[in-house]
Amino acid sequence: MTNSSTSSTKPILIIGGTGKTGRRVAERLTAQGVSVRIGSRSGTPSFDWEDRNTWLPALDGVRAAYITYYPDIAIPGATETVEALTRLAVENGVKRLVLLSGRGEHEAQRAEKAFQASGADWTIVRASWFAQNFSENVMLASILAGELALPVGDVREPFIDTNDIADVVVAALTDDRHIGQLYEVTGPRLLTFADAVAEIASATKRDIRYVTITPEQFSQGLAQEQLPPEIVGLLNDLFTQVLDGRNEYLSDGVQRALGRAPRDFSDYVQETAATGVWSV
Ligand SMILES: NC(=O)c1ccc[n+]([C@@H]2O[C@H](COP(=O)([O-])OP(=O)(O)OC[C@H]3O[C@@H](n4cnc5c(N)ncnc54)[C@H](OP(=O)(O)O)[C@@H]3O)[C@@H](O)[C@H]2O)c1
Repeated sequence: MTNSSTSSTKPILIIGGTGKTGRRVAERLTAQGVSVRIGSRSGTPSFDWEDRNTWLPALDGVRAAYITYYPDIAIPGATETVEALTRLAVENGVKRLVLLSGRGEHEAQRAEKAFQASGADWTIVRASWFAQNFSENVMLASILAGELALPVGDVREPFIDTNDIADVVVAALTDDRHIGQLYEVTGPRLLTFADAVAEIASATKRDIRYVTITPEQFSQGLAQEQLPPEIVGLLNDLFTQVLDGRNEYLSDGVQRALGRAPRDFSDYVQETAATGVWSV
């Protein structure tokens, strides 16, 4: 079954379409001949979560949308903002909506509930930590510097490859069988941060250390980085609360959505090492 909601010539809006999952979703849809519209501050028309006047022009004339909230769906108030965008979409005939969410986060689960009650033809993709955080995000600088220091000890996380997330999202956007499904997606293996760094060190033949620091040391480090206060709060919550073992389990969302297993962290590491992004 394919997406029967509307004519296939209308574009699909990808909010965060230049980000870690959105970019991959846009690439896949384009390769399938599906027209896409990038929803971001650099898109045309521009879409900005902080300027509601930009929302309707971005939604105008699209048949479906993939929603990734920035900076993070776990930030207090994310629910109300995502809810407002969803309401506007449904009111304007864009009912087929896919939301990216996170695991074990109060605000994310609150946003999911509002999304499910919105009247949309919804799909939720609730993801574990992205593997690509090591290569396309703040942790890249630490990997390049040869030391990643976080207030996380032996807690394990099933890092997911964002290519798998993109495959699930594309399936959801183009096949009505995924309407009403919540896919909790993780990688196939639990790893500590030390395990993950050791794999990257081995693949790159570099000396990269993982160091467990105290929450106080972590907060002090963040304070020196001149980050916006909401990002500091988010990172503190994430590393000192969410990574407390509550997410130390595997989920079968990739298998359920795609009928295949998720990619292993080692595949991501080998592929990423070959791009040279971790070379100094
Ligand atoms: N990272 C993880 O491990 C993880 C795990 C589970 C769930 N998530 C969720 O994934 C979502 C994306 O997080 P991410 O860190 O991976 O980011 P990302 O997708 O890499 O985010 C960057 C994207 O957001 C756009 N953007 C930035 N500011 C914007 C604004 N004010 N208005 C509109 N678009 C804006 C950027 O484009 P422009 O710069 O062109 O605007 C870019 O397309 C979050 O909701 C997060 O909760 C993340």
